[in-house]
Amino acid sequence: MILVSLLLLILHLLSSSCDEYFINDGNNLTKSDVDLIEFPLNIEYMEAEFFLWGSLGYGLDKFAPQLVDGGPKPIGVRIAKLSPLIRDVIAQFGFQEVGHVRAIKSTVRGFPRPLLNLSIESFATVMNDAFGHPLQPSFDPYANDINYLLASYVIPYVGLTGYVGANPKLHSPSAKRLVAGLLGVESGQDAVLRTLLYERGRENVEPYGITVTEFTNRISELRNKLGRQGIKDEGLRVKPKLGAEGSIRGNILAGGKYSLSYDRTPEEILRIVYGSGDESKPGGFYPNGAEGRIAKSYL
Ligand SMILES: *[C@@H]1O[C@H](CO)[C@@H](O)[C@H](O)[C@H]1NC(C)=O
Ligand SMILES: *[C@@H]1O[C@H](CO)[C@@H](O)[C@H](O)[C@H]1NC(C)=O
Repeated sequence: MILVSLLLLILHLLSSSCDEYFINDGNNLTKSDVDLIEFPLNIEYMEAEFFLWGSLGYGLDKFAPQLVDGGPKPIGVRIAKLSPLIRDVIAQFGFQEVGHVRAIKSTVRGFPRPLLNLSIESFATVMNDAFGHPLQPSFDPYANDINYLLASYVIPYVGLTGYVGANPKLHSPSAKRLVAGLLGVESGQDAVLRTLLYERGRENVEPYGITVTEFTNRISELRNKLGRQGIKDEGLRVKPKLGAEGSIRGNILAGGKYSLSYDRTPEEILRIVYGSGDESKPGGFYPNGAEGRIAKSYL
């Protein structure tokens, strides 16, 4: 009897210590904390769909339909032609993103999955914009390992900079704990993607005869241009001035003067993911715009 009560007490303590991180009604969070936490749900939905579909051939509608919340099906997303290693890594990323969607939605109310355009054409447009002219044939993110890794290079990094930007604006400890946890895994994903690309840096992306490194440099330059706030994005090789301690070209991780992660505001992120350079002009991966109070305030 005593043993049972003791066990129940331990269970109770354990469950209440977990509850601290997830406040279901968001009542403990300031309005601004709620806005800053729901915003990245837009990015997490996109990552979950792109990685689950790319590796496994299905997305949230099959794996966790309750998280979709009645949102429309993503456009053009599909399974990619991947080697076993890359498929395994990307499937892990996919499930990690599902966890992130759950974590955000158990902390704030959030919103249903927004309309996502993950079609070949949507990624091809990003690459054409990055090079300043149409690639021939047009870029297919789902065609092979290298193309899929380059398409993935486009995504977690943007989330990462958003979490770095959100952190100093948060008030409540539970919001900071959540954002630190999300940031840790997003930056881990970015590091894995960059490492896999770095190993292939000198290889050409076929049939363009352009190296993997050059693709990353162009994509990062495009994001800097769209974000309109200077350099916050760097490819895999940079001028030594931009490398760690201003001393090295190799740039396996992006970072500022003291190798601290760059930060971006929600506005900068919208300019990039809309592909328009304007937080009030939706398009790109979000044809109808992103959801949540911050994004909606510009539409
Ligand atoms: C939520 O608010 C209550 C009442 O102010 C406080 O006792 C509790 O510690 C807060 N929880 C968290 C996780 O901040
Ligand atoms: C998806 O993106 C492509 C490329 O920008 C565009 O041509 C297509 O119309 C988009 N689809 C929808 C439904 O917005």
